[in-house]
Amino acid sequence: MNKDSKSSFITDLLIKKINEKNDSKFNSELILLSEFDIPLCNGSNHLNNKIVLDLNHKINKSDGIIIFTPIYNYNINSALKNLIEMTGNAWKEKFLAFVCIAGGEKSYMSVMSLANSLMLDHRCVIIPRFVYVTGTDFITDSKLNDNIMTRINGLVDDLIKFVKSLT
Ligand SMILES: Cc1cc2nc3c(=O)[nH]c(=O)nc-3n(C[C@H](O)[C@H](O)[C@H](O)COP(=O)(O)O)c2cc1C
Repeated sequence: MNKDSKSSFITDLLIKKINEKNDSKFNSELILLSEFDIPLCNGSNHLNNKIVLDLNHKINKSDGIIIFTPIYNYNINSALKNLIEMTGNAWKEKFLAFVCIAGGEKSYMSVMSLANSLMLDHRCVIIPRFVYVTGTDFITDSKLNDNIMTRINGLVDDLIKFVKSLT
């Protein structure tokens, strides 16, 4: 959501890696939540909101999703949680991978409550590779250390492998 985010270049990196490794059987699309005016979920307002219905459609028709989120208060950010509340069933049976950007290492396990809920409520398959980036992983403002780059490659490889073999 942060327009000055120091981590936004990672989304471009992910898209580039997916396009490099993909044999064009699949399309990838970046959804930046900062570009959508999504109302706060009240339990029923997802039904008649065009922006939400469009996003619902995009999520629903996807096979695999990389969730890229900052960690706020030991969780994903509220904009992403709101999107998931608004689009609930669209997440059914997706392959999901997580990339997190955080202030410190101690919130490493903080996406697990979301991962559990998506596995149990929506039968999502969570790709067992995890990219968790903190400030110390930045060599410069737009360059990450080799360990994180290896993890990003592994995550993209495995997401494509899972999607191709099981869809
Ligand atoms: C409201 C708020 C809560 C945060 N809570 C945590 C947290 O629980 N654990 C953590 O490691 N970092 C936390 N951070 C630090 C952010 O995860 C970190 O600044 C990250 O780089 C933000 O992503 P961005 O650079 O894309 O904005 C928090 C930051 C904010 C603004």
